[in-house]
Amino acid sequence: MIKKYIFGSPMNTGAAALKLSDETGSLPVFGTDISENKITLTCTLSERDIVYGLGEANRGINKRGWHYEAKNSDDCVHTENKTALYGSHNFVAVSGCEHFGIFIDTPAYIHFDIGYTDPDVMTIDIHSPDAAVYFIAADDISTVVREFRQLIGKSYIPPLWAFGYQQSRWGYKSADEIREVVENHRSSGIPLDAVYMDIDYMDGYRDFTVDSVKFPEFDKFVSEMKENNIHLVPIIDAGVKIDENYDVYREGVENGYFCKRADGSDFVAGVWPGRTHFPDFFMPETRKWFGEKYRRLTELGIDGFWNDMNEPAIFYSEEGLREAMEHVDRLKGENLGIDSYFDLTGTVAGISNNVKDYDRFYHTVDGEKIPHSKLHNLYGMNMTKAAAEAFERFDPCKRMLMLSRSSYIGMHRYSGIWTGDNCSWWSHLLMSIKQMPSLNMCGFLYTGSDVGGFGNDTTPDLLMRWLEFAVFTPLMRNHSAAGTRDQEVYRFRNSAAFANIIRLRYRLIPYLYSEFVKSVLNDDMYFRPLAFDFPDDSIAVGVEDQLMVGNSVMIAPVYEQNARGRIVYLPEEMLRVKYLPDGSYETRVMPKGHSYVSAELDEVVFFIRKGHFIPLADSANSTAELNMKKLTLLGYLDYKANYLMYSDDGESKDYYDQNNYITLTVIKDNRDISVRSSAPDIELAADIK
Ligand code: GLC
Repeated sequence: MIKKYIFGSPMNTGAAALKLSDETGSLPVFGTDISENKITLTCTLSERDIVYGLGEANRGINKRGWHYEAKNSDDCVHTENKTALYGSHNFVAVSGCEHFGIFIDTPAYIHFDIGYTDPDVMTIDIHSPDAAVYFIAADDISTVVREFRQLIGKSYIPPLWAFGYQQSRWGYKSADEIREVVENHRSSGIPLDAVYMDIDYMDGYRDFTVDSVKFPEFDKFVSEMKENNIHLVPIIDAGVKIDENYDVYREGVENGYFCKRADGSDFVAGVWPGRTHFPDFFMPETRKWFGEKYRRLTELGIDGFWNDMNEPAIFYSEEGLREAMEHVDRLKGENLGIDSYFDLTGTVAGISNNVKDYDRFYHTVDGEKIPHSKLHNLYGMNMTKAAAEAFERFDPCKRMLMLSRSSYIGMHRYSGIWTGDNCSWWSHLLMSIKQMPSLNMCGFLYTGSDVGGFGNDTTPDLLMRWLEFAVFTPLMRNHSAAGTRDQEVYRFRNSAAFANIIRLRYRLIPYLYSEFVKSVLNDDMYFRPLAFDFPDDSIAVGVEDQLMVGNSVMIAPVYEQNARGRIVYLPEEMLRVKYLPDGSYETRVMPKGHSYVSAELDEVVFFIRKGHFIPLADSANSTAELNMKKLTLLGYLDYKANYLMYSDDGESKDYYDQNNYITLTVIKDNRDISVRSSAPDIELAADIK
């Protein structure tokens, strides 16, 4: 049951895909307090209640005990004290005596106090008189989330190659450097499907340009990479460099496509290229114009992009910089004491991403000028919408890889996200594990974190453990920041062990891809907390560091340095699969309950539910070489089980074609195992306990 309540006159953010009629009564469960510019929703939490949701937020799967903000933020230090990251995913779901969810659909700033001030109270402060609020109630938490997902519409599905291993780095500076990276993967037997091109590929950080000295004959380079089954994925930033000799800048100015100050002049923000203008993506004509620019790269064979700095990140505004400089000038020559010293450092630190800047520029929405501060959380979504609308025009049947850093619910229909600038910290590996199911609840299924960590120097063991988790994340991309230690897996002494883990990813693709697409089409979660599958098991309900992956697998990643295993909770008897460094695996049936499970650094352990099996392919160097028609069925059965495998051309959007579904069957009769497939051309072997 979903009900929609309207407060004031909310704008259509584009988040909801279903049209519901407005309710007239009052919001159930929540107390509502409306003051002139604020709506406050309050509900009490019972002792047992777990609060899920908030997508890309900090802290645990259970959000209780902390506070969070809807305020898309470019913040590269994701420490525990933070309250906002890059996306605003304003959906929370309470599960305990009752099961209900609430989605606050507004671009406004929101403060979610989830038992932070009072452990038994959730208070949602919406800093606007206008919001559409959706209330969902059901008999169980899975249904609450599924109904919410039905409301917001089907999630984005990337091409199959985007399930392969991807290598990124800020930044590869030339075609030759990328060739070398690819060659090193290929010669070390490390599978690879994509290489990301960070800002250095551009000519002076100008969007949609390619530095022709470092990347000569770019079209030929793209084809050369394609022949080697490598997709190049260039970055596109929100800010357009101010440069009279740059056509994108000139066109934007001439046609009034950029965000304006109150006096009508184009707002200037400092980002990577120095002074830039931000396209006003709220205007359909700007989206069309900017979106068409992607064609310059798609015509050269590019079929994937990542949109970045689109919160938008503002290193400085001209106004902010001037004010800060004047302030610093006033302190010149002073004897700085405790207050004035901190005033100075605070002033300089506060130049970047200062919310005061959000009031200095305006968008035009249906002819009306609206300050950015009122629409802030929708900016990145609209940038990505510009790209998605363009791809639809270029070729409505073709899937493109699209990632965005900033997001809002609704964008999950056009794009995936990566979780931004994490650090090479063990705590961030754990954080990434916890973010995945929360993101899935909010529709973001194609997602993953920067494997190995973006900021700071990684260590080979952290990278390896992170990969062991990322084997299961739809986006499996190794990325790191400029100035940090080299992080490509072949850089490390034990590159064969790394290769083996990545080869396992390719073996699992028939399962991972099937579960991913089925989750999208059925409005299910690909990653789930154990509580969703075992709601009556009071221990499972509290587990925060194990996840269900699709219908048949449970993972319990190792996320502590020097650990040689970990305690795992099995909510039922399961088959433990231990994948070994020589590419073989061992299986063992493990009982329900807590067990210590050993997992050496180079071993990957996962669990298959009883009564289930999963299809494994032979490994390959790229998804293009993956043979989905030769499978080993690995599982644990008493008698008989079916698996509905989804397999398509990996490129077109023909998801509903019945031929994409293949039923695989295993029948166990004492020691005899027989296997069959609804598609005649599949070669099957079985490894069934
Ligand atoms: C931002 C992105 C990061 C990228 C960097 C340089 O920090 O989040 O992924 O490498 O910008 O473009």
